[in-house]
Amino acid sequence: MVDVILGMQWGDEGKGKIVDYFAKDYDVVARFQGGPNAGHTLYLNDKKVVLHQIPSGIFHEDKINLIGNGVVLDVVTLKKECEAVASFGVDFRKNLFISERTHLILPTHRALDKASELSKGQDKIGSTLKGIGPAYMDKTGRNGLRVGDILDKNFTTNYIKIRMKHQRLLDNFNFQEDISAWEEEFFQGIEFLRSLKIVNGEYFINEKINNGMRVLAEGAQGSMLDVDFGTFPFVTSSNTISAGVCSGLGIAPQKIKEIIGITKAYCTRVGSGPFPTELLDETGDFLRNAGNEFGSTTGRPRRCGWIDLVALHFACMINGVTKIVMTKADILDSLQELKVCDSYTINGKETKHIPFQMNKMDIVPHYSSFKGWGSDISKLTTSSQMPEEMKNYIAYINKYLGVTVNYISNGPGREQIISV
Ligand code: GDP
Ligand code: IMO
Ligand code: MG
Repeated sequence: MVDVILGMQWGDEGKGKIVDYFAKDYDVVARFQGGPNAGHTLYLNDKKVVLHQIPSGIFHEDKINLIGNGVVLDVVTLKKECEAVASFGVDFRKNLFISERTHLILPTHRALDKASELSKGQDKIGSTLKGIGPAYMDKTGRNGLRVGDILDKNFTTNYIKIRMKHQRLLDNFNFQEDISAWEEEFFQGIEFLRSLKIVNGEYFINEKINNGMRVLAEGAQGSMLDVDFGTFPFVTSSNTISAGVCSGLGIAPQKIKEIIGITKAYCTRVGSGPFPTELLDETGDFLRNAGNEFGSTTGRPRRCGWIDLVALHFACMINGVTKIVMTKADILDSLQELKVCDSYTINGKETKHIPFQMNKMDIVPHYSSFKGWGSDISKLTTSSQMPEEMKNYIAYINKYLGVTVNYISNGPGREQIISV
């Protein structure tokens, strides 16, 4: 049996914290897409850890953590991250497994990401510059190197062949930077990867499921960054939605049970692209400062705005969300008025649908307004303690989405979560 945790907005919904919280109920935690563009934050006894590649179940001693075939892997980040988790006493050599089909992010992928972004000028995606797009392009273009390939004695020669192809592309971009330092680190990372547990991920995970083990699939990014259904072209390069679990781990759809969607109590986005409920005023600044909304991977300030129910409804539909976890409710504590977007006006017409080319449209959001609760909720432990105003806010969202908010996270700490 497999449950899924995924982001319903533009990423950074708090997936890392929630996966870490739920991991105790599972045997396996598996990443199925994305790569080091992800930054999943966990707090362990007040110590902050940000995971980019390793699943967020790694701090539970007895859990298996799998990096699935749908992920793109940066071995340099992986090595650093393994060293970081080891400093917390984690035995990653015992608990971390990597699928041999996982594609590798090469140093030239990072260079190509940078060159491509530079060439776009004002129209840049605002990517994390981690080489994600070029690595997935090589996967679908049938050029890429995979984890299993590192065991081949011709690995270096094969790398050089691809590098030559990439060099021609980099020359076209007139990209002049010397990447030899990245390559040196890359080969050290490859050596490190050889020492880890490389498995046939699809048999590995299906055997676990058939033996009655419980799997938690951990999404990266968010539904509105999905390459098919997000705000294209301002998206990432993988399927971040629940469908990605099947192709990214080798799991059949009927094995999936709960699909747990995570949303903030408001909304953020990092990087370029449409964001209808963005607040470019003091309320936006308040959310950024109170919520410490700065990218976990790049440190960039996140754009902030009100919760967007049109987008969340869309995310519920394309993912089949069965339960919702709302995070960062505590950030709204001191606001007198809260707003939720429940429709858009596009070209003079009101709609509750996400349009085809959001980036080319003038979208006017319509809001319903709610009275804020105006009290500190960070210490609440049960739903009965929730202020009435908060109950009203949640009830409206539940009704609109047709899916229930089952948990509310009221602080970054591991145990700051209320079951509703
Ligand atoms: P992820 O990428 O979805 O895992 O999210 P990030 O880790 O990038 O960003 C979420 C941020 O919010 C992190 O700094 C978390 O520590 C923090 N966070 C998560 N849940 C809560 C919450 O309920 N309240 C507060 N105040 N912070 C939270
Ligand atoms: P987590 O898992 C927020 C955004 C980038 C950029 C776009 C494409 O922490 O929620 P990419 O490097 O993937 O080619 O960038 O996607 N992006 C994220 N935004 N959280 C993330 O991950 C993100 N991963 C990518 O900012 O706009
Ligand atoms: Mg993040």
